Amino acid sequence: MATRVAINGFGTIGKRVADAVAAMPDMRVVGITKTRPTAEAWLAASRHFPLYGVAPEHVSALTDAGLQVEGTLSDLLQQADVVVDCSPGKKGAANVAAYEAAKVKAIFQGGEKHAVAGFSFNALVNYKQALGRSKARVVSCNTTGLIRTLFPLHKTFGIDHVHAVIVRRGADPSDSESGPINAIEPVLQLPSHHGPDVATVLEGLSIATMAVAVPTTLMHVHAIQVDLTRPPKGLDAVLDAWQHTPRVMLVRGDRGVVSTAQVMEQARDLGRQRSDLQEIALWEDGIALDGHKLYYYQAIHQESNVVPENIDCIRALHGKVKDQTESMRLTDKVLGLSTSTYP
Ligand SMILES: NC(=O)c1ccc[n+]([C@@H]2O[C@H](COP(=O)([O-])OP(=O)(O)OC[C@H]3O[C@@H](n4cnc5c(N)ncnc54)[C@H](OP(=O)(O)O)[C@@H]3O)[C@@H](O)[C@H]2O)c1
Repeated sequence: MATRVAINGFGTIGKRVADAVAAMPDMRVVGITKTRPTAEAWLAASRHFPLYGVAPEHVSALTDAGLQVEGTLSDLLQQADVVVDCSPGKKGAANVAAYEAAKVKAIFQGGEKHAVAGFSFNALVNYKQALGRSKARVVSCNTTGLIRTLFPLHKTFGIDHVHAVIVRRGADPSDSESGPINAIEPVLQLPSHHGPDVATVLEGLSIATMAVAVPTTLMHVHAIQVDLTRPPKGLDAVLDAWQHTPRVMLVRGDRGVVSTAQVMEQARDLGRQRSDLQEIALWEDGIALDGHKLYYYQAIHQESNVVPENIDCIRALHGKVKDQTESMRLTDKVLGLSTSTYP
């Protein structure tokens, strides 16, 4: 029987997770929640996702707007094996008690703290440890991006220390309220929270991060410096490690991909849904190796790179697919990502 998935919070991440779940042969969307009759509520109706209000007062707001509403979040949880909490950052923690009371497995997003689930997930690193758990947190877009490219380096060469500077998009494309729009805003609390967040998955990794927000909506860019324990003989060995890593896409400046604008254009040309790019774009001709020090740049499509991780996390928590590669390969095949990196 297909895994029954509820999505609580239907915004940037929630609508993408819902579409991905609906596309999987082994899952189905049993419902999504809204608090208001926004465009996303009508999108859910057009996708035939059963619509629920988060609380009773939301049911009337949605019904008054002419939407068909099936009940409240507590009704929805009765229908689900797994709930994916995609509510705004820091709001998910308040839902833990409701999920536990309904005995439904729960996935939280990177806007929540590690403690919300006591387990932070990345499919490459700890799928097996997630099997059958009642709760997990899929780490944020930046953390997911750092883990995807650091993990193969860690496995192959060992890592003594990582220093990364994160250039963050000021807002998501659909957001007309956030900024900055004409400034560069450093995160003054140093090191930034991203490093410790990576270490919730890559336990024991020595990593320090800094971050600045810039006026762009397209992607984040990371400038990363890694002290490797066992220096590779040359860059080919480093490239080989990344070429054999799923969800990492090498791009080249000398082929015209010189900025996040061209990376996203490539995603449009690939014809992906919403022009999303779930892979991490890593500049193949922007890598340097100096003894044990490795330098590289990567770009993160913040709206979509965590979507495949959520799908794998659903499978791991429900426990029907025990093998990490089987789950990741199926996810990537259905989402149209390259599967040539799998054994
Ligand atoms: N956007 C990103 O770049 C990104 C990347 C990775 C991870 N994340 C994480 O993913 C989570 C969701 O972020 P997002 O960007 O998708 O936020 P978002 O676009 O603001 O969507 C969240 C949605 O939740 C709904 N909502 C509000 N209050 C709610 C409540 N009490 N219960 C359930 N739903 C509620 C809102 O819709 P209505 O009130 O209109 O119903 C809103 O559209 C956060 O933890 C965030 O940190 C975000």
